[in-house]
Amino acid sequence: MRKTVVRLRARPSGLPQASDWDIRQEEVAAPSDGEVLVAVRYVSVSPSLRNQMEAGGAYLPPLQLGDTPRARAVGEVLESRSPDYAPGDHVEGLLGVQSHFTGPTTTLMKVDPAVAPLPRYLGALGMTGFTAYFGLLDIGQPKPGETVVVSAAAGAVGSIAGQIARVKGCRVIGIAGGPEKCAHVVRDLGFDDCIDYRDGRLSERLAQAAPKGVDVFFDNVGGEVLDEVLLHLAFKARIPLCGGIAHYNAVGQFGLKNHLKLLETRGRMEGFSVYDYGPRHLEARDALAAWLADGSIVTHEHVEDGLVRFPEVLRLLFGGGQVGKLMVRV
Ligand SMILES: NC(=O)c1ccc[n+]([C@@H]2O[C@H](COP(=O)([O-])OP(=O)(O)OC[C@H]3O[C@@H](n4cnc5c(N)ncnc54)[C@H](OP(=O)(O)O)[C@@H]3O)[C@@H](O)[C@H]2O)c1
Repeated sequence: MRKTVVRLRARPSGLPQASDWDIRQEEVAAPSDGEVLVAVRYVSVSPSLRNQMEAGGAYLPPLQLGDTPRARAVGEVLESRSPDYAPGDHVEGLLGVQSHFTGPTTTLMKVDPAVAPLPRYLGALGMTGFTAYFGLLDIGQPKPGETVVVSAAAGAVGSIAGQIARVKGCRVIGIAGGPEKCAHVVRDLGFDDCIDYRDGRLSERLAQAAPKGVDVFFDNVGGEVLDEVLLHLAFKARIPLCGGIAHYNAVGQFGLKNHLKLLETRGRMEGFSVYDYGPRHLEARDALAAWLADGSIVTHEHVEDGLVRFPEVLRLLFGGGQVGKLMVRV
């Protein structure tokens, strides 16, 4: 049996190009003792894939040239030589950007397509939702009545983080690119307000939307958006540093101008990784599933067809061309 696999050909400078990837047909390996063979159905397309393309200095271990990206994906077990998995089981894990995965079960978690559609396990019921849950609740520690601002608010993590803040009784303001995304954030996700960071009035709009200051800033973006929000922090503000997508394709460094606002406000900015919370992932899944079931939060998946289109779909993410969780259907 043959499989399609996407492998890193060259390290990019700036936005990844199609020429940075090889798309190959290869023979599918049979599983050894303890391993499984999985037919991959959906592959998550996330900013961390860009990070892995760097030779060093990134927050994830670098890919070697010729590797397939360590993408999260969901699929169906075809063959198993592990006592824990049987053919027909559905799994989520680091399956890579390929149509078939053969390997150990260490990163795998069983998922049930009868409970939720498979794409949801890459979105709200997977690492995306867990990131929002732990970043907001553990690091941000929002209290009812506080003002929470979320950047990349129409995106996968941001859309969930903001809705959890709403569930917790906060006033929630999104920041997103363009009037259509902002309308979606307010109308469909129930945020109280949303600011289009591209129209050049971010600081002015933040002053209007958060007159008492920002208690929690859930930051997915970094760069100039973070620098502007720093000017509007409330006393004892918390900034869960989730990511910095504005930096991932940037050539050269960006310097914050307003970081001393953290000193003035006795604020705290703290980075975190969803992988720090491995033992508590099921707690997050249960909470998110309950909120989805009772309609407290809604979720959107943006599915593009065709594994061979992975290079262009990754570029879509950096152009902001998606709403919710981006993935490719194999
Ligand atoms: N700490 C962790 O454990 C962890 C885990 C998962 C993800 N993350 C981080 O979470 C963040 C969001 O990830 P995601 O998967 O949910 O992606 P996403 O928000 O669904 O997609 C990225 C969005 O970022 C915005 N964007 C792209 N380039 C930008 C730029 N130069 N400046 C400002 N905004 C830009 C776009 O939205 P607009 O159209 O609104 O600009 C785009 O839709 C990323 O920074 C990622 O690295 C962290």
